Amino acid sequence: MLVRPLRLDDEAELRRAHQIGYRGDMEDGRPWNNVWTFEEMAVALRQQTPGQRHEMLGIFDGDRMVGAGVVWCSLEDNLDKAMVIPVVEPELRRRGIGGELLEGLVEYVRGLGRTEIMSGTSVAFEERDTAPVLRFAKAHGFTPANTEVVRMLSLPLPEALLDEIDAEGAAYAEGYEVRSYVGEVPEELLASYCHLLNQLVVDSPTGEMDFEPEQVTPDAVRHDVERDRAVGRMVFRSFAVRDGEAVAHSDLVVRPAGHRASQWGTLVRADHRGHRLGAAVKVANLRALQKHRPEVTEVVTQNSEVNAQMIGINERLGFRAVALVPEFLRRDAG
Ligand SMILES: CC(C)(COP(=O)(O)OP(=O)(O)OC[C@H]1O[C@@H](n2cnc3c(N)ncnc32)[C@H](O)[C@@H]1OP(=O)(O)O)[C@@H](O)C(=O)NCCC(=O)NCCS
Repeated sequence: MLVRPLRLDDEAELRRAHQIGYRGDMEDGRPWNNVWTFEEMAVALRQQTPGQRHEMLGIFDGDRMVGAGVVWCSLEDNLDKAMVIPVVEPELRRRGIGGELLEGLVEYVRGLGRTEIMSGTSVAFEERDTAPVLRFAKAHGFTPANTEVVRMLSLPLPEALLDEIDAEGAAYAEGYEVRSYVGEVPEELLASYCHLLNQLVVDSPTGEMDFEPEQVTPDAVRHDVERDRAVGRMVFRSFAVRDGEAVAHSDLVVRPAGHRASQWGTLVRADHRGHRLGAAVKVANLRALQKHRPEVTEVVTQNSEVNAQMIGINERLGFRAVALVPEFLRRDAG
């Protein structure tokens, strides 16, 4: 079998890879997974975010694509790292396809100079110690590095609950202004917003994995804002602003299809913690979401199982845990 990058001008090839990703993630009883629409996937591959490399490789048995894998890495920071995710459709598993694909993905990112290779996938709670993917990862030299928990929240939330959480935080958050935006980031907040995005991997618990700050630039954010809008994603961003800077943010995306919103990052800058700003930006975002997209029925979020502060806020809002995400790391010699 051959593992190679997809040809981005080959529509049928991209569609087949999307089908494998969709079926592999959604047709084996893991409804909490988030799967991109075909258009989101195609546009992300064809219009790369500046400073990042996002690719898909296929594994081919003759002419037939039998598995597909995602490769993601930054070109500006964390240059020793890459994320790889192999997927095989349910009925083609346990024939060695996933293993050969995973080794092909590893070889590919090794060619990009990466020696810390990360992967991960969601499993049911009761499979914490027995999920087949644990054996699969181990067989390929990946060891558990972190465990995240997926949580879901049913909407709509009663306005009274949002008001109550805001009221609890009001005395702590004096002097901060909370602002919400749909599908845009104002120019004057771009630099401080990038700082928050770049700190997330450093400030949030990531187990054995050790990251340096990311280097996302205002240009990259402008690019993604345009791309998201063009593909029909609606991104909600709420900020806590002080002295003209965003010092806390929370981002949510509603995909072009379906009734679900996915939580992206939430961060309060280290020197502004203790003011209940995490709850304030989350509540503001949920209010905006409910106002603009009342048909959305659920929000899905994921964070490290030891991230007590974020989990506390999420549980106060009513999120309930639905699955685990073991994250794996393989460290190869440089
Ligand atoms: C993980 C995945 C890619 C494996 O693909 P695959 O083609 O079945 O992989 P292989 O045939 O090379 O290896 C299968 C091995 O994994 C383990 N495994 C996988 N599925 C298993 C199952 N249902 N029961 C028991 N063991 C299983 C076993 O160790 C198995 O080896 P064995 O068949 O010799 O016992 C596939 O299950 C998948 O797409 N899962 C969803 C996405 C995902 O979890 N990606 C992995 C991120 S690390």
